[in-house]
Amino acid sequence: MAPRKLAAGNWKMNGDLAALAEVDRLLDAHPEPGCEVLLCPPALLIHPMVGKSRGGVLAVGGQDCHAKASGAHTGDISAVQLRDAGAEYVIVGHSERRADHAEDDAAVSAKAVAAHQAGIVSIICVGETEAQRDSGQTLAVIGAQIAASVPDCATAENTVIAYEPVWAIGTGRTPTNDQIAEVHALIRNDLVARFGDGAGFRILYGGSVKPSNAVEIFAIQNVDGALVGGASLKADDFGAIVAALSAA
Ligand code: 13P
Repeated sequence: MAPRKLAAGNWKMNGDLAALAEVDRLLDAHPEPGCEVLLCPPALLIHPMVGKSRGGVLAVGGQDCHAKASGAHTGDISAVQLRDAGAEYVIVGHSERRADHAEDDAAVSAKAVAAHQAGIVSIICVGETEAQRDSGQTLAVIGAQIAASVPDCATAENTVIAYEPVWAIGTGRTPTNDQIAEVHALIRNDLVARFGDGAGFRILYGGSVKPSNAVEIFAIQNVDGALVGGASLKADDFGAIVAALSAA
């Protein structure tokens, strides 16, 4: 059975209680989406957003979690707490976390394990910098990140991979279709080689996805959805992306 496509929005450090009106607008326009729809708002908005999810039409997720379930870690949030608030997913290893908080592959893997232990699906992010692409290291970098960031307990059910080239995030620039296809094929092959059932893992593309390029991106082989930043903040834009994925 083909995996269910996933349109995921990452609000990053944007949005407030008033912004939850966008959820109503999104679900009014797409009451029965033809793909799974997920929003990952700032942690404070997770619980109120779950209250607007209309019985699970919308899934809600966190943007990060700590590797431990509880303890003396001021300012952090555990996967268990995310689950308690109603989250079903958590993004781990986003390039902004890797850069801003010096998270390495081992830390990302530990967070994914914590998510799985809490019963949450991890969305593990990988992606090369512009300098790495320009120097021909993209496939080596992505292969190494997949090998070290995806834990042994990963399955197609508890793990989603997001390929997000760092230089495409928030820049309006996207790789060519061939470049996306090449990286997604590498990720698919690595997962098949390691887990056997890798064809079932969902692999998302992220980086400047918007209504005007979504149809084209969703037609690329091994693209099972998108992780959307800026265009997920507005119901009209994210709704258009949900519609494009539903039709893909
Ligand atoms: P943009 O869609 O704003 O480029 O952000 C992508 C991203 O980082 C999603 O996690």
